[in-house]
Amino acid sequence: MNRFSNDKNSHFSSLSRRQFLQSASLYSAGILIPGVAFAQGAQQRNPLKIPDQLLGTQRNGQSHYSLNVQAGTSEFIPGLRTPSVGYNGDYLGPTLRFKQDDNISMHIRNQLEESTTVHWHGLHVPAKADGGPAQVIKSGDDWNPEFKIMQRGGTYWYHSHALNRTGDQVYRGMSGLIIIDDEDNQQSGLPSEYGVDDIPLIVQDRQFNEDGTFRYIGTPRDIMTGMFGNTVLVNGTLSAEFNPKTELVRFRLLNGSNARTYSFAFDDQRTFKLVASDGGLLSKGNDQSTLVLAPSERAEILVDFSDGNPVNLISLSMPDSSPFSARGMMSNMHPMNQERMQILAIEPQSNLSSSETVRAELSTIQRIDQAEAVRTRSFTLSMAMGMGMMGRRGGRGRMGGGESFFINGEVMDMNRVDARIRMGDTEIWEVTNDSMMMHPFHVHFDQFQILDRNGRPPSAEEMGFKDSVKIGPDETVRFIMRFNDFSDADTAYMYHCHILEHEDNGMMGQFTVT
Ligand code: C2O
Ligand code: CU
Ligand code: CU
Repeated sequence: MNRFSNDKNSHFSSLSRRQFLQSASLYSAGILIPGVAFAQGAQQRNPLKIPDQLLGTQRNGQSHYSLNVQAGTSEFIPGLRTPSVGYNGDYLGPTLRFKQDDNISMHIRNQLEESTTVHWHGLHVPAKADGGPAQVIKSGDDWNPEFKIMQRGGTYWYHSHALNRTGDQVYRGMSGLIIIDDEDNQQSGLPSEYGVDDIPLIVQDRQFNEDGTFRYIGTPRDIMTGMFGNTVLVNGTLSAEFNPKTELVRFRLLNGSNARTYSFAFDDQRTFKLVASDGGLLSKGNDQSTLVLAPSERAEILVDFSDGNPVNLISLSMPDSSPFSARGMMSNMHPMNQERMQILAIEPQSNLSSSETVRAELSTIQRIDQAEAVRTRSFTLSMAMGMGMMGRRGGRGRMGGGESFFINGEVMDMNRVDARIRMGDTEIWEVTNDSMMMHPFHVHFDQFQILDRNGRPPSAEEMGFKDSVKIGPDETVRFIMRFNDFSDADTAYMYHCHILEHEDNGMMGQFTVT
């Protein structure tokens, strides 16, 4: 009976059907964003699509996986065809299922008429296998990287990382989920039947034109704030509905959007347990009623549906008081993250089957000792906003040409290595946001641990392993990371803002480990 319960919220569970429908219709705020907002409302729901799993085939001690990058069309909106791109399909890709210690052999074929790359976001792999902007796969070419799964179980993802075109390619569908299995997950008692009680949720916002085509970057503002949509897709499903069969469900949330940050919550305010962050299980679940995920962040949450009540997963409007809300000019020019949105309708089936008891101790997370760090490296993120509108302390002024996003005053240059790190070192990275909006800062190579935010220790939510961290306006975040295992003087890893239009327009740098 020590299965997690939401008893203390039972007074929320008596929402009438009418109230429920009303709350579901609150998300019509998308009118502030151009493009046609499609299919809002609870009437026309579609069953949540679950991406197929790719389990790999065993040969010569390796697990082999094949991905074809291919163009297709998708019917997101009934009666309209949307040109889209997918891996082994029309939109998104299969969920790649890896096991800790597996040796992976990937076979990727680019069947598009454009170049691309495939990056394993959050994975600890050699630079040549990382799929960053230098590992270009030309139209018609193959790419066969090999790597070993050396990290903790968890929810990761893969996506295009084409130089200056990541935003465009990901928007059209070039991403998919990775699930890594390990001992801790197996013993946790967490729901683990994929598609039944272990449910991936790739959340993306999109804009559509009236003919059903994707609308990508209509105005300079779509670059400045990043590309926001007014229509939510979950696993490529419009107005998605999910029908739990079990009392407990684990959702693996990926914010796969280009720019939007979601404040996930349930519309009956029930609590849930956060059990994993970017780099796998937390040491124990954290009870919470909202969860803010910026682009590229993942989280696994455990939700109790044993009351049988219908409920909606929504995204709340981010309050001005949030450290991640835009400031000044930036907050006026766009309703950034301030719309309440419907994400997923949930209607439990009758006669839910009971779920296993979830362990209280999920994993052991050894905190990396700060004394281990040999140096602190500083990064400042800044933006140029039109004439004279710089970060508050002023970035370097390189106006025009879309070069409006800087790290340490520089825009991304493939011919410049920004940091050279010694293999085996532990470093503290100190990232300061000198702009008026939040940037999710992501580092390739491995997972890190957050040390502090503006000098204050991280909340329980941020005590797990991370590979992307939200850095609000004027915030300074310090994190610690070990640079072990891989040495390559010629091939760099990336660090960047994961608002893809920022990344594509300069807010990225590279480092080598040798
Ligand atoms: Cu999710 Cu550099 O990438
Ligand atoms: Cu990455
Ligand atoms: Cu950014």
